Amino acid sequence: MASVPSLASSLHQRIADALSAALPEAGAADPLLRRSDRADFQANGMLALAKKLKGNPRELAAKVVEQLPAGELIKDIEVSGPGFLNVTITDEAITRTLAARAADDRLGVPLAEHPGTTVIDYAQPNVAKEMHVGHLRNSVIGDAVVRILEFSGEQVVRRHHIGDWGTQFGMLIQYLIEHPHELDHKGGEVSGEEAMSSLNRLYKASRTLFDSDEEFKARARRRVVDLQAGDAETLALWQRFVDESKIYFYSVFEKLDVEIRDEDIVGESGYNDMLAETCRLLEESGVAVRSNGALCVFFDDVKGPDGKPSPLIVQKSDGGFGYAATDLSAIRDRVGSLKADTLLYVVDARQSLHFKMVFETARRAGWLTEGVKAVQLGFGTVLGKDGKPFKTREGETVRLVDLLDEAIDRATAVVREKAQNLTEEQIAERGAQVGIGAVKYADLSTSVSRDYKFDLDQMVSLNGDTSVYLQYAYARIQSILRKAGEARPAAHPELPLAPAERALGMHLDQFGENLAEVTASYEPHKLAGYLYQLASLYTTFYAECPVLKAETPQQVENRLFLCDLTARTLRQGMSLLGIRTPEQL
Ligand code: ARG
Repeated sequence: MASVPSLASSLHQRIADALSAALPEAGAADPLLRRSDRADFQANGMLALAKKLKGNPRELAAKVVEQLPAGELIKDIEVSGPGFLNVTITDEAITRTLAARAADDRLGVPLAEHPGTTVIDYAQPNVAKEMHVGHLRNSVIGDAVVRILEFSGEQVVRRHHIGDWGTQFGMLIQYLIEHPHELDHKGGEVSGEEAMSSLNRLYKASRTLFDSDEEFKARARRRVVDLQAGDAETLALWQRFVDESKIYFYSVFEKLDVEIRDEDIVGESGYNDMLAETCRLLEESGVAVRSNGALCVFFDDVKGPDGKPSPLIVQKSDGGFGYAATDLSAIRDRVGSLKADTLLYVVDARQSLHFKMVFETARRAGWLTEGVKAVQLGFGTVLGKDGKPFKTREGETVRLVDLLDEAIDRATAVVREKAQNLTEEQIAERGAQVGIGAVKYADLSTSVSRDYKFDLDQMVSLNGDTSVYLQYAYARIQSILRKAGEARPAAHPELPLAPAERALGMHLDQFGENLAEVTASYEPHKLAGYLYQLASLYTTFYAECPVLKAETPQQVENRLFLCDLTARTLRQGMSLLGIRTPEQL
């Protein structure tokens, strides 16, 4: 593993050195380097510096240029406009840097210098309930962020805060006690669909009874008390609901190609033993106060529509603990026991007020200390084509499985149409990889906080900013590499580069810088944007520069080298988004 400095950072260093040599009175001034259309890079730092030193920017810039003779890195440097520096990099430096990247498993991307521990809360469906499009986002974004953080060297602890506790279990368990065979399955393994459909049936039946039969309602309420008291029979039945739901969750996550491990599923019930203590600590410290019997935390800037303060309720007046008590206890566990220095929550933006209040409460209580960062990656809503929250024609929430199945069907049709000598089995496998990739990419290429329209036609399109486009670019490169026969990818730094080769090469070199930004800001859409641009630059390169029919054997090798590095960068980047890149399509 050898990290490779980018051309931009080498050049930055070189100009900064030249600056302090030419103008020692300037101190450590930033050359303000950025990519430019005119040359490869432009440095604007001389303007601010001239102001500071009360000099003429063009004259100062000329002095700096004197310190920067053309050489291995710099081909050409000139003063332009009011005092910019325009810099062109040598072709040789580009190819040498890329060769160093190619020689490294991590493509020269450095590990974080000071990795920390992040606990990330994502992929949190609810027991005995169908997964819907909202769970698509918390799973897909969370999975990508986990991969991106782990690639940077961060220690990541995953937490699936599933909704597995609450009063609705009283009703479900009581119903099951009175109808003991409702969750039985005849023989063999139960599929996720079967598990969900029996849970659904049971849910509906018990709800109907609950709403129509006062005596059942009373028995269901007593059952909640038994559950909270830890009664063994009640807990055993509750566990059956959890287990049955997990069969279903796992089947959906498998379809979604998101890996979930059992030990990372710590649902709301996992914090049950801490709730009373959490409340006691809050009350003793005065962070929370009793108000009409409920334990509440107040905030100056949080008011209801009536203008009255709207508190975070940690314990209801009937003694029951709510969502907030669980989240506060989870913070104590994640910081106190898991030693997190960053807490991430991939949760719907509509829960932002909840998290704002929970974080603030935890700060006041001293559970979130100064060194600990807590961030909600609040995601936007998935919309239908009409721009309204995505619903079925009947106005119901869309089942995640139905949506994924449809995406796979559409993608399979695309793959089948383009397929050359693929077997039916291969078409099905690729269809799933393309379909799921399309759904994930559409989600991840939009910034997390924004809403987006779920439009399958657009998602599986071969043109435009889609995963299909990226997957085809990758597969096309693999096919060229297979066709190359004896010729192997090899860098030849002595060869001059065509404009499309330079543009591709400069972009390839920026992979690490892009990732650093994506990692620091938790913004997978910037990685998607980088990859899309990479595939576009590759398409131009491929149109303008013959690879296997290039003029000399060296040029064939050098172009194969560019193809290969592009493919590896695409593959690495897509894998960080959780998207497969089939070798052949
Ligand atoms: N189960 C919740 C839902 O389906 C999400 C849980 C979010 N995580 C948390 N720590 N509150 O919306």
